[in-house]
Amino acid sequence: MSMERTLVLLKPDALQRGLVGEIISRFEKKGLKLVGLNMRNWEKSQLEKHYAVHKERPFYPTLVAFMTSGPVVALALEGKDAIEVVRKLMGKTNSRQAEPGTIRGDMGMSFSNNLVHGSDSPESARFELDLWFGGQGDICSWDPADLGWRYSIKEELS
Ligand code: RTP
Ligand code: MG
Repeated sequence: MSMERTLVLLKPDALQRGLVGEIISRFEKKGLKLVGLNMRNWEKSQLEKHYAVHKERPFYPTLVAFMTSGPVVALALEGKDAIEVVRKLMGKTNSRQAEPGTIRGDMGMSFSNNLVHGSDSPESARFELDLWFGGQGDICSWDPADLGWRYSIKEELS
């Protein structure tokens, strides 16, 4: 079974509220491998591309304005079923409805300002990793020394 990569964005509210470390830590503790990290104030065109699927939705202009209101931290994470695992750790979009134990459920009260973004399919992960990490160039491949403890070698790594 091969490893999957996914894109996570820590939205401007995560930085404003000093939650960057806590959120990254949750992904690390889970066992996802950090293979890319950048932080920048992005131009509107970047967010318009990223959220192009929501172009016709009523919340689109507010969303793009929010995402360009401050720095965004982008993470590339790798692991088995990484897309689904990340989405579960994030919790439901509306933070008030997100389960306790999830990032949004534990740390947020807002529908719109909901701290994190995670790719929702292999296609969107490919598109978004390319958009935020310029192809594979900015991704760092490395081997965690404890991989054989994070997964069962016999069942999951062979
Ligand atoms: P994301 O794309 O950021 O990972 O979040 P998601 O899949 O859980 O939610 P999605 O439906 O893709 O919406 C993208 C982001 O738009 C904002 N939103 N606000 N107030 C609203 O009705 C509303 N709906 C969506 C949220 O920031 C959401 O994460
Ligand atoms: Mg989404």
